[in-house]
Amino acid sequence: MAGFGNPTQAVYSTVRELVENSLDSCEDAQTYPILDIEIKNVGPDTITVTVSDNGTGVPPEQVPLAFGRVLYGSKYSQQQKRGTFGLGVTMAILYGQITTDSPVIIHSKTYKSKGHLYKIFVDVKNNRPLVEYEEEHHRDETGTTVTIKLKGDLKRSQERIIEYLRLSTVSTPHAKLTLRIDEEIQLDLGGWSDTLPSPIRPSKPHPRSVDMEVLRRLVQNNEKRSLDDFLCSSFQKIGPKTSTRFLRFMNLNPNCIVSELNRDELSQLANALRKYDGFERPDSKCLSIIGKNELLNAIKSVFNVKIAEYASHGVSEWQGNPFVIEAVVAMGDDFPRSDIPTLYRFANRVPLLYDSTDGVLTRTLKRVNWSRYGINKSEPVAIFLHLCSSKIPFKAAGKQSLASVSEIEQAAYQIIKELGRKLGKINSRYRRSARESKKMREFSKSFRQIARFSAALADIDEVPSVDNLVKKLFEVEPDE
Ligand SMILES: Nc1ncnc2c1ncn2[C@@H]1O[C@H](COP(=O)(O)OP(=O)(O)OP(=O)(O)O)[C@@H](O)[C@H]1O
Ligand SMILES: [Mg+2]
Repeated sequence: MAGFGNPTQAVYSTVRELVENSLDSCEDAQTYPILDIEIKNVGPDTITVTVSDNGTGVPPEQVPLAFGRVLYGSKYSQQQKRGTFGLGVTMAILYGQITTDSPVIIHSKTYKSKGHLYKIFVDVKNNRPLVEYEEEHHRDETGTTVTIKLKGDLKRSQERIIEYLRLSTVSTPHAKLTLRIDEEIQLDLGGWSDTLPSPIRPSKPHPRSVDMEVLRRLVQNNEKRSLDDFLCSSFQKIGPKTSTRFLRFMNLNPNCIVSELNRDELSQLANALRKYDGFERPDSKCLSIIGKNELLNAIKSVFNVKIAEYASHGVSEWQGNPFVIEAVVAMGDDFPRSDIPTLYRFANRVPLLYDSTDGVLTRTLKRVNWSRYGINKSEPVAIFLHLCSSKIPFKAAGKQSLASVSEIEQAAYQIIKELGRKLGKINSRYRRSARESKKMREFSKSFRQIARFSAALADIDEVPSVDNLVKKLFEVEPDE
């Protein structure tokens, strides 16, 4: 039950899984997400969490499997998505079922259906849905509302939930989020950007990204194809020429039928696809970065920020997956003062709040010598780091910290250093200008004094102005 280890984390994870799915679905629908998150206390340590979205909706016939089977994912192609495993919402539903013996309630409408209401349990033993109740139920707009009842500690998780939602409007700046707890609005945020991200174009898997599971699934869907045909039709970056070269390198018969390959041969094929260096780099059209203006604007909308600088790195690749890292360094009184900047981590637009000390990004941040860039305890500095990739190398199914991947670590190090340099320059410009202003004030004071003495010596009543002189010396307006 990754992510549901204690009653506080359980409430937070339930909200997170539902919000993630809703935002993914709005992205599919190409709409501005409007999410209502409602939490109600309904008994001792018992709450309901309801998340309502204006996304695509779920076709009625797919609802039972999507919500009642573990590892039911619809997201198989290579593309940037918040959801990855086909595990998230079912974990939350299972936790609710185990702790309160209540079914999940789903009310959904696609543009084709009128609206459907389901109450579903998960049959844990057989990993299949048990539909307790089902009816056609009108819903005005397309979208989905999911309600889960669970035991949990709302009081202790509330702060994290608010932090998560605030940061979600930073990484999805075109989304509007409202949080109500016992009917009282706790947060109503977002809509910082009025441009939709350009649509993500899902790609076929890159050959270097396959594992046995993906390969087995692809073979199942292409049982009758010859190996040559299978490779050309199932993967990006494999055309007839590349396929021929690869199969010759593998010493495999291009005409053999894929379903006839035994387990060992499939495993060899998966290994060879991962290791062969004759494939071009993966497509990056399946990625969606937040973007410079959108990210800077969102950070400035959520935090009190004096200075903010953006940088991005990539497109690069890790094991056949394209990735980009974008980041912002920001200075402002909302951030804690420390020797190293406070790090806000995002993966495919999802804020990562737990296990922060555990991951690669935090470790990378600590490798940088911040005093070189003029950062010390007196400076409130933060770094926002967003990794987008067709696959995020999470350490565990709780999806909170990243495993060590040298390509990502290297890119993160580069970008953090670049931001450090930018901040260092701004800092020294600030210090220089502070020094200049001090000098200017002193000069201005002395000049006024000289003017006063000179006027007295020359017996002139009106003391001449020295403003022009100071202005010429410093090329700026003097202080009053
Ligand atoms: N609000 C929603 N709108 C549309 N489809 C949804 C919604 N919630 C869930 N689904 C469908 O149900 C599937 C299963 O959701 P689930 O959260 O279990 O997996 P996931 O999001 O694919 O991956 P992850 O385990 O990382 O969350 C999704 O892939 C999606 O197709
Ligand atoms: Mg999910």
